Amino acid sequence: MANHPIALIVGANRGIGLGVVTEFLARGWDIVATARRPAEAHALASLAQTHPGRVEVKLLDMNEPAQVDGFAGGLGPRLLDVALVNAGVAGPEHRSASQATAQEIGALMVTNAIAPIRLARHLVARIRPGTGVLAFTSSVMGSVALNAGGHELYRASKAALNSLSRGLYGELGGQLTLLTLHPGWVRTDMGGSGAAVSVADSARGMVDVILREQGRHHHVFLDYTGKEIAW
Ligand SMILES: NC(=O)c1ccc[n+]([C@@H]2O[C@H](COP(=O)([O-])OP(=O)(O)OC[C@H]3O[C@@H](n4cnc5c(N)ncnc54)[C@H](OP(=O)(O)O)[C@@H]3O)[C@@H](O)[C@H]2O)c1
Repeated sequence: MANHPIALIVGANRGIGLGVVTEFLARGWDIVATARRPAEAHALASLAQTHPGRVEVKLLDMNEPAQVDGFAGGLGPRLLDVALVNAGVAGPEHRSASQATAQEIGALMVTNAIAPIRLARHLVARIRPGTGVLAFTSSVMGSVALNAGGHELYRASKAALNSLSRGLYGELGGQLTLLTLHPGWVRTDMGGSGAAVSVADSARGMVDVILREQGRHHHVFLDYTGKEIAW
């Protein structure tokens, strides 16, 4: 990989992450893409084949501290222009704080809130100073201001991600641009077939927003059309 800007997409083997990989590739970027089971990441493998030398697929389960600790070191000396921590889960089917077991709550909170921040702390030093962007795929459901009830556990996990990402931004003293993104309600395994937005449209919008925000050094909560969302 040489000369092209580089985007790291975490949770890239399907859904929105795969869409964002496809969109960055179409715009001439090189990609580091992560999957929990790289050997089964067939869509990424075929993108790597059609874009020789431009897609590197790396193993990463964000919930495995040993993998997270070693991940940034495994990137080599190159700097990332964009790091998008996109992976997430919906949580238990019942969606209810009253019904959830401690194990269900733990798995959801670790995956959607704690693990992304732990990983991001390792990545910060690898993001290009000045123009680099660190982004999290959150959800409008993480907005406390817009919370009208329902999906309470998932909402809480994304609200926690938003709070932790604001804290990280504070720690970094504005040294890079930090984005909290809502991809829209998207037709993926998580969003379901009745969702309003295609993966391609969501990914195109997210990449537009990320590129628009390069160099701004602020932390904002934006949807895939670039509209600001109330915290
Ligand atoms: N779809 C929507 O309507 C919607 C709306 C708002 C926000 N979002 C957010 O957008 C992001 C992507 O959603 P999606 O719809 O594309 O979901 P998806 O189709 O279910 O894909 C989720 C991705 O996250 C990965 N992942 C889950 N746990 C992981 C872990 N511990 N470590 C590493 N990767 C992990 C999955 O890997 P495996 O294949 O190995 O499971 C998969 O690549 C999520 O953060 C989600 O909360 C989605």
